[in-house]
Amino acid sequence: MICPRLAGVLAEHFAPVMASVRLQQVSKVFRGAHGEAVPAVRDVSLTVADRELLVIVGPSGCGKTTLLRLIAGLETPSSGTIAIDNRVMNDVEPKDRDIAMVFQNHALFPHLTVFENLALGLKLRKVPRSEIEQRVGGVAALLDLTGLLDRLPRALSGGEHQRVALGRAIVRRPKVFLFDEPLSDLDATLRTQMRMELARLHDRLNATMIHVTHDQVEAMTLGDRIVVMDAGEIQQEAEPLELYLRPANRFVAGFIGSPPMNLIEGRLEGGAQFVVPACEEGTEALRFLLPAPVREAIPTDAQRLILGLRAKALQPVAEAPKTEGDYLLPAEVELVERLGAETLLHVRTGSLRLASRVEGASSVRAGATVSLRFRMEQASFFDAATGKALAHPNPPPPDTRVNLKTVDERG
Ligand SMILES: Nc1ncnc2c1ncn2[C@@H]1O[C@H](COP(=O)(O)OP(=O)(O)O)[C@@H](O)[C@H]1O
Ligand SMILES: [Mg+2]
Repeated sequence: MICPRLAGVLAEHFAPVMASVRLQQVSKVFRGAHGEAVPAVRDVSLTVADRELLVIVGPSGCGKTTLLRLIAGLETPSSGTIAIDNRVMNDVEPKDRDIAMVFQNHALFPHLTVFENLALGLKLRKVPRSEIEQRVGGVAALLDLTGLLDRLPRALSGGEHQRVALGRAIVRRPKVFLFDEPLSDLDATLRTQMRMELARLHDRLNATMIHVTHDQVEAMTLGDRIVVMDAGEIQQEAEPLELYLRPANRFVAGFIGSPPMNLIEGRLEGGAQFVVPACEEGTEALRFLLPAPVREAIPTDAQRLILGLRAKALQPVAEAPKTEGDYLLPAEVELVERLGAETLLHVRTGSLRLASRVEGASSVRAGATVSLRFRMEQASFFDAATGKALAHPNPPPPDTRVNLKTVDERG
């Protein structure tokens, strides 16, 4: 709930401006220290709708910062076009793009008070004093900083510091906000809290935002739509649940979810058997019969496959009789993580390392030998050569998003 006074401030000061962002086949190649080509962003095409909060997630070095810097105009694309509201921005100066970027190391000016830090950008733009006071006041109210305006940054907590950094962006009233891992320097508790505040802030400001993070939990909780990147390329663009249930490829399967999906490489034999070669002398190869729907989904020329199982699809069982369609994997428990609501078992079978998630407490101890049961119907399959998903156990989740196109067409 927003109090009426704040709602008034918001309406007056943050009236949203239309801003969609469209990238078409954008690439960026840097030159390395020895003149070699370093491709940082490869052929990225992406549309961020007006007032959408888009989250981009990927491991360190995958090109996230470069992508944001390209949108902000701090880097020039090697090829491709960047448009804001259908206007191509490639040759527009950063200061004229009407974009605010919040960086990971959100350094505030240490000798300036919170008020002065918030006001600096407006002062440089020669905004009249009375308007600066009004706008800074509005942002301070929005971010709960009103009581802190006279403090110096060194007298702020980590979260307050972070809010001032956000405030500096908001006070400019840009068309588009770019957040480059703004929460990564905060401790875990504060990160969770700020994550909620960011989501709320997006609702209140009703602005177009692109939020970048390497943290998949942050991405999953914040984004309505998530773009997963690796090695400069988009791997998948989907809603959080879709990423989890139906990863487009091996990379996404191994990146999204905590723990990530267990991936077991093997080969297809006779079109119906999945064989994991013996990896240690004296052990036998593991053989599994593929169910008919999976067989049908797999191209006949696929040689090597990857079987993917979520940790909760692998359950330790006491020596129970095997029922039809159940498979048992003998495994040695290497590590037990007791998390309260659940227990994670990290196990080894041959040279394979797998994770099993058990609900509640488990009496299993490290060093124990267990049988892990799974059913083939719960497995995803990927082509080992291309990494592409071939079959998933889950149907696509229902689309919970508002169909923006339909709304636009109607309106
Ligand atoms: N100015 C630069 N010169 C050369 N290489 C760069 C430069 N900036 C980034 N890179 C390289 O581009 C790749 C992507 O970097 P970056 O966009 O910072 O990734 P992320 O933000 O996802 O960690 C990395 O390999 C990085 O070393
Ligand atoms: Mg970065």
